[in-house]
Amino acid sequence: MLAPSRSAARVVARAVQAAPRRALSQVAARAAAPAAARPMAVASTAAASRVASRGVKTISFAGTKETVYERADFPKEKLAEIFKNDTLAVIGYGTQGMAQSLNARDNGLKVIVGVREGGHSWKKAVQDGWVPGETLFPIEEACAKGTVIMNLLSDAGQKLAWDAMRPHITQGKTLYFSHGFGVVFHDQTGIQPPKDVDVILAAPKGSGATVRSLFLEGRGINSSVAIYQDVSGQARERAFALGVAIGSGYLYETTFKQEVYSDLTGERGVLMGALQGMFLAQYEVLRAHGHSPSEAFNETVEEATQSLYPLVGANGMDWMYSNCSQTAQRGALDWAPKFHQATKPVFEQLYEAVANGSETRRTLDVNSRPDVRERLTRELKEIADSEMWQAGVEVRKLRPENQ
Ligand SMILES: NC(=O)c1ccc[n+]([C@@H]2O[C@H](COP(=O)([O-])OP(=O)(O)OC[C@H]3O[C@@H](n4cnc5c(N)ncnc54)[C@H](OP(=O)(O)O)[C@@H]3O)[C@@H](O)[C@H]2O)c1
Repeated sequence: MLAPSRSAARVVARAVQAAPRRALSQVAARAAAPAAARPMAVASTAAASRVASRGVKTISFAGTKETVYERADFPKEKLAEIFKNDTLAVIGYGTQGMAQSLNARDNGLKVIVGVREGGHSWKKAVQDGWVPGETLFPIEEACAKGTVIMNLLSDAGQKLAWDAMRPHITQGKTLYFSHGFGVVFHDQTGIQPPKDVDVILAAPKGSGATVRSLFLEGRGINSSVAIYQDVSGQARERAFALGVAIGSGYLYETTFKQEVYSDLTGERGVLMGALQGMFLAQYEVLRAHGHSPSEAFNETVEEATQSLYPLVGANGMDWMYSNCSQTAQRGALDWAPKFHQATKPVFEQLYEAVANGSETRRTLDVNSRPDVRERLTRELKEIADSEMWQAGVEVRKLRPENQ
């Protein structure tokens, strides 16, 4: 077993019980860092030298200087001034459409929502207080009324709806996305923005549910911001302002292409695809060698997500290594290069598949089929019903907070 020092683990366990999950990393950082480790955390933060003017900061990320903007740069009055002549038309009411429309509205901007009439999203928008004919419209009508068209349909939906939306994206308007997908892979999606509109992006780095909950707590999610076309000369300022309006805290500048390449790689890789693949591989090996389901799950998933990953998030991998037993340290230091060597070719393959467009082609193909929801439900049920995650259901019931 690889464990942080017992006292640190106990403090974290108490913190897990007491704290909302979202705040765990900060709580874990404060609660679990032994005195000796704290200076290291501070030192690594200090390594990012800051030159601040208002909220804008130039930060050296391990030697590479980047400009980071923050909410303080765009207080509500400034947002009101920048968008005083605008109607934001949020097209789509999935998790992002919901969060971004409600946040922008609560930030005092004029917002309308556009979705398919009578569908799942329409009903959800009505439940959230959007009023048909006043603030809720069919997609084309909302595009006609909006001056900032915020395309938050699913990425496959953006392709399917583009021909209907396109005539309403007229000179002087702003076209906004939360993903570079549609525009960067325009040869597959057909999304070629007209030449006489600003085209901008603000992509929250997290689920819409978090975009909304952080906003309601008075905080903001990290987002990427990019400009694809600046016709007005104001696109840059409006992109950052809109990023703040929809609930971002810190905003990092990128390009449409970098955003979509990194995002598709990340979610297929370490964030989800690789995570499930690695969990399963270790679990299966333990099971094949006679370990019980609970032992295999605890040693693979539970300890990772409940103890170690929050600590890695709070303090970094070096801190994690230095706060476990020497036995664990030695093994992790020896085996990390082997896993690195084994998985790097897969990541290279993944990046290549993203860059050559085969990932987006597959996404558009599968997600444009009429049975997309049923198919996804079926595939996810297979994961849910697998022995590993069924063992997880029982293990989770035994967590301290569930007793
Ligand atoms: N989810 C995230 O965490 C996340 C994070 C950052 C960025 N993004 C990006 O934000 C955008 C929106 O993502 P999301 O997850 O919020 O949305 P989503 O769940 O992928 O899409 C939902 C919306 O798309 C509509 N839709 C789907 N197909 C359609 C079609 N053929 N015609 C008209 N409407 C259609 C749905 O309407 P109905 O209910 O009527 O079907 C619903 O309103 C995407 O570009 C995504 O990549 C997402």
